[in-house]
Amino acid sequence: MAIYYDQNIQTFFLEGRNLSYVFGINETNFVEHYYFGARIGRDDLRYALACGGDYAESAVPGLTNSARNSYNNYGAELSTYGSSDYHECSLQIMFPNGSRLNEFLYDSHEILSEKPAITGMPSLSGGETLRLTLKDKNSEVKVNLYYTVYEDVSVICRHMEVTNATAEDLKLLRAYSFTLELPRNNYDVLTLEGAWARERYPERIPMHHGVVSVDSKAGASSGRLNPFMAVLDRNTDEYQGNAIGINLVYSSSYVLKAEVGSKGSSRVMGGINDFDFSWKLAAGETFETPEVVIAFSDNGINAMSQTFHDAYRRYLIQPSYVTAHRPIVINNWEATYFNFNNERLMGIIDVVKDSGIDTFVLDDGWFGARSNDKAGLGDWVVNTDKLHGGLKTIIDYCHNAGLKFGLWFEPEMVNPNSDLYRAHPDWAIHVPGIEPCLGRNQMVLDITREEVRDYIVEAVSKILREHAIDYVKWDFNRVLTENYSLGLPADRQQEFHHRYALGLYDLCERLVNGFPEIFFEGCAGGGGRFDPAMLHYFPQIWTSDDTDAYMRTQIQYGTSICYPLSTMSCHTSICPNHQTGRTTPFATRSDIAHLGATGYELDTKKMTGEEIAEVAGQVKAYHEMEDLVLNGDLYRIENPCESNYFAFVLVAKDKSEAHITAFRTLCRANDEVKRIYPKGLAPNAVYEIRELGIKLTGSTIMQVGLVLPNAPVDFKTFVFHLKKAD
Ligand code: GLA
Repeated sequence: MAIYYDQNIQTFFLEGRNLSYVFGINETNFVEHYYFGARIGRDDLRYALACGGDYAESAVPGLTNSARNSYNNYGAELSTYGSSDYHECSLQIMFPNGSRLNEFLYDSHEILSEKPAITGMPSLSGGETLRLTLKDKNSEVKVNLYYTVYEDVSVICRHMEVTNATAEDLKLLRAYSFTLELPRNNYDVLTLEGAWARERYPERIPMHHGVVSVDSKAGASSGRLNPFMAVLDRNTDEYQGNAIGINLVYSSSYVLKAEVGSKGSSRVMGGINDFDFSWKLAAGETFETPEVVIAFSDNGINAMSQTFHDAYRRYLIQPSYVTAHRPIVINNWEATYFNFNNERLMGIIDVVKDSGIDTFVLDDGWFGARSNDKAGLGDWVVNTDKLHGGLKTIIDYCHNAGLKFGLWFEPEMVNPNSDLYRAHPDWAIHVPGIEPCLGRNQMVLDITREEVRDYIVEAVSKILREHAIDYVKWDFNRVLTENYSLGLPADRQQEFHHRYALGLYDLCERLVNGFPEIFFEGCAGGGGRFDPAMLHYFPQIWTSDDTDAYMRTQIQYGTSICYPLSTMSCHTSICPNHQTGRTTPFATRSDIAHLGATGYELDTKKMTGEEIAEVAGQVKAYHEMEDLVLNGDLYRIENPCESNYFAFVLVAKDKSEAHITAFRTLCRANDEVKRIYPKGLAPNAVYEIRELGIKLTGSTIMQVGLVLPNAPVDFKTFVFHLKKAD
């Protein structure tokens, strides 16, 4: 049993694969946190509680035990502000009289064998769930805290529901998804920072007294700071030490905070960003927060990553796609941008049709008056000036060539220069009377409004219904400004960003789930909305608009800290690279793209005959390793953000096979010998290393390493395929 309540000591034990999460109902009926970490026995942990308030602590009325008379000394499962807890809190409610005093005590609990869904938001499935109900000491407000644990992965999923059972309307000022207490004050935090075209770079800093936080205020999880934070022991590295990973299943403005308090402990919390947020909770209504996934490893950061990867592949990503062969696409964007017609597209299809590439994706520019990025967004009507005969001509051409057909949409957007905007200027987000910001010449549609969502669903569905489309790329090229809806009254305007997320999930439910036979890829100007909620709908996301192989080693390295390789869409593109101007070997570009859902974005007119011939071999090589990319365990061996090298090792779950991709950034004459030390192999098994033509035991390969040849080439990859010998 994963969840156990010991009535005698009023303690809950939540047990995942290698984690225990323990809390109890204390002498004041407060639900007090006792422990989170590696699996422990079901003991009475009250002996280890913090004790001793100081002169400056405020005593809670009615508490007589002078050593433990202040909430400031308790570890909390739900943290509130106003009655003696001075840390950051996870819930703040304002009552009609302006009071913000909330004090939640134990009410009841239930262990659920089926994990309840969160209304209107994606979340993980499966696992055993505890619903813990708390009640405000001073009002009829109730809170349900949900905790889900799994026997096969070391994660705990949490979220909160707040129910207003009073007779009056309340205002939520803050409603985070979780509070997590940690027993020490000397941790590091690891986050993933970035920007457009350089998303998710790892950044590690020490926590200090006070608060360290990451957030988004952009109405999207954003490429700037991923909704991820790991709390690490100071000595934790990739392969040793405690690592607690925190990832929000959420796509709009969020915050994650880590606070070191004055009593030697720390508190981590987060969820919907409460900056510019409030939510009117009418009498009788319930508010649900998004889910947070908390992963635990006592074997370093790499094992924490593997835990996220397994949890997402098993419980988050649509099962029908998670292990299914991924389309190997050729996308026309970098080849043509907006400048194409049937003949130009057919030329690309002709070149690749016998290469093994199996899907042609027609990117931006096929609709409305879209000859550049200044016009047409929102008008999902085929531009027959460019595409004579409509989409059908190019779709039929594709299908006759044995390729599937994919199409680009940006459903949430509108150009002011579009028929949609001319008909419904009020549908674009703006504040009346104030000139709005444009991003890439476009505005964002107010999808908090049902009639706007209905238009989008109908316009996109019409194209999907009327054409034989196999694949959709769903883009989102700018974040939100103005933060105002004509559909909301003044006292609800601060609900806007969360309502945007709810609108987005509704669109995904209706479009993605409405066309289950179509494969949907996510995109947001590259990786600007790469989060678990999007992965619930899109099994893969365009990782970055930066397709330079060297930059991709770093971007894919950082992304893998939280997200499985199968979720990263990666393309081999033409050189000099369009984002960096760099030229890298063709083989390198495909070797790096193969460490994800591989594909191509090539101007076939500029390819050499040799390159064209090479593609077939590259696709064949991908097919051989695809199972490891989709289902294997990842071991990060060399960090390209910190050294001249990059190396990933992918190992089959049953250890029968492995694939190693190493990369040297710059070559140096007469360089030092470089060895790669793979991990994760079966130590006693004998593996055949195809590229070296030798057989070695797993322990030898891991301990003696593989030597990288010293060739005078920059940006060179070295690939090794290992198979267990009979
Ligand atoms: C974004 C995407 C690109 C491409 C363009 C089209 O930048 O990330 O891959 O689809 O939009 O406008």
